[in-house]
Amino acid sequence: MKNIIDVEVKTQKVDFSRCKTGMLVLGIFSDAKGLDKLSADLDRRLSGAVSRLIKLGDFKGKEGTTAIVYGDGKIAAGRLLLVGLGERKKATVDTLRRAAANAANKAVDMKARNISLALHRAFQGRFDLAVMGQVCAEGVYFGSYRYDEFVTGSENGRLDSLAVGLVDSDSAVIKKLNKGLSSGVIIGKAQSYVRTLANRPGNVINPPALAAEAKRLVAGTKGLACTVFDEKQLAAEGMGGILAVGSGSQNKPRFIVLRYTPQDKKANRLPTVAIVGKAITFDSGGINIKPSTLLDQMKLDKSGGIAVLGTMKAVAELKLPIRVYGMIPAAENLPSGTSYRPGDIVTTFSGKTVEVQNTDAEGRMILCDALNYAVKQGCDIIVDIATLTGACMVALGRYMAGLMGNDERLIGQLQKAAQLSGEKVWPMPSSDEYAEEMKSKIADLKNIGSKWGGACTAAAFLRQFVGDKKWAHLDIAGVDIIEKPTDSSAEGSSGFGVRLLTTFLMNL
Ligand code: BES
Ligand code: MN
Ligand code: ZN
Repeated sequence: MKNIIDVEVKTQKVDFSRCKTGMLVLGIFSDAKGLDKLSADLDRRLSGAVSRLIKLGDFKGKEGTTAIVYGDGKIAAGRLLLVGLGERKKATVDTLRRAAANAANKAVDMKARNISLALHRAFQGRFDLAVMGQVCAEGVYFGSYRYDEFVTGSENGRLDSLAVGLVDSDSAVIKKLNKGLSSGVIIGKAQSYVRTLANRPGNVINPPALAAEAKRLVAGTKGLACTVFDEKQLAAEGMGGILAVGSGSQNKPRFIVLRYTPQDKKANRLPTVAIVGKAITFDSGGINIKPSTLLDQMKLDKSGGIAVLGTMKAVAELKLPIRVYGMIPAAENLPSGTSYRPGDIVTTFSGKTVEVQNTDAEGRMILCDALNYAVKQGCDIIVDIATLTGACMVALGRYMAGLMGNDERLIGQLQKAAQLSGEKVWPMPSSDEYAEEMKSKIADLKNIGSKWGGACTAAAFLRQFVGDKKWAHLDIAGVDIIEKPTDSSAEGSSGFGVRLLTTFLMNL
């Protein structure tokens, strides 16, 4: 099996005219009047090649676009890559992150071994340099990521490694960039780790395999501990929801509980946070089997759980001063003679009974046990993340995750984290009228509502398992996958949630 591309990001103080690199990357705003000092200087050395390109209209600085100018031996860089930044006043830190991703994506396509990213001076007065260092590193990992571990051929193969320099001529700037860079590297690597695990198919990752991976992670990461409940322990605990969903598969369900304890004793005064992620390693729908179109994508139904795993990795490596639980209920939803059936009544970990009206509404069946476990562990704040409903995808498309919850302050903190991390969310309701639809005549709850508002009724179901704890829910169906290659990424798992949750936890 091939390893994913090995990416190294470092800062470097350089004299731009002598910056020896495979590709020197420059950002250009769409509404810039003329070239900035650095670009103008390089343009002069290149006998006006950059300004000609712009004058001819071949490059307009539009966000997501790029153009190449060859160095021709006139400058030390083999190529210049111009990356569009869009309108100057609309630019955010995510503009910078995406530009870095775009450049890294092109670098891998062009098989450049090393590239240098020059930060636009216009950003430097506007954003904190440490944050800029962080987001550039995150973007580089995101854009250079490829999932090809099972491709055995080497023809046209990509390079094994990419060295990236964040370059500037001012050593004071470099020093400040470095402050955020190491965090960006940790978060970027955690996101790539998540994308690889999420992309692995159902025959490679099933619940026991995921539990083994969690144990591997914990063994190699200081501050993390892990407990895995197997099917016998799940039965002993009375986790009827997880057991019911997992009952149709030979691959038995697991409940993976990770715990991060900071070195810092002061953390004991801070609230304990639980992040809870749905890990259905393959969702066929069960007895209510799904139609066959796009069924293969249901290997990504474990994305929430894997995002939790990756976030725990990042949290521990960042040594955050806060106690965090990562809870991952894992099951495979398959039809068979031992499957749970429509009509079954399941007693969940909370003691509440649920009438199963549709075996394809399985995410909430496993999450309700995990959420209630977080409550019983005494967690003060609970955030769950799940590819929960097709309805959320209908409502928000592929750009934003649905955000529900019972605490305005917590919702606000997640919205803020979304802005900073570039993993977008949009608020949606989960109030009493939706909960009303989830009442059953023969049990406490049923697992589906009416035809309408499916993302909201699903959230209203979950809400009933968190008691009076502060809780928020992220429905990531829709944003878990990048369907077609974009300017800044290859296709496959997006790794959504790692940046969002890590940023949220960093800011607590
Ligand atoms: N994992 C699916 C949701 C999903 C659908 C994620 C498409 C990504 C893309 C979930 O388990 C599911 O099947 N939900 C049902 C719920 C319904 C039966 C109430 C759905 O959305 O159709
Ligand atoms: Mn389903
Ligand atoms: Zn599902």
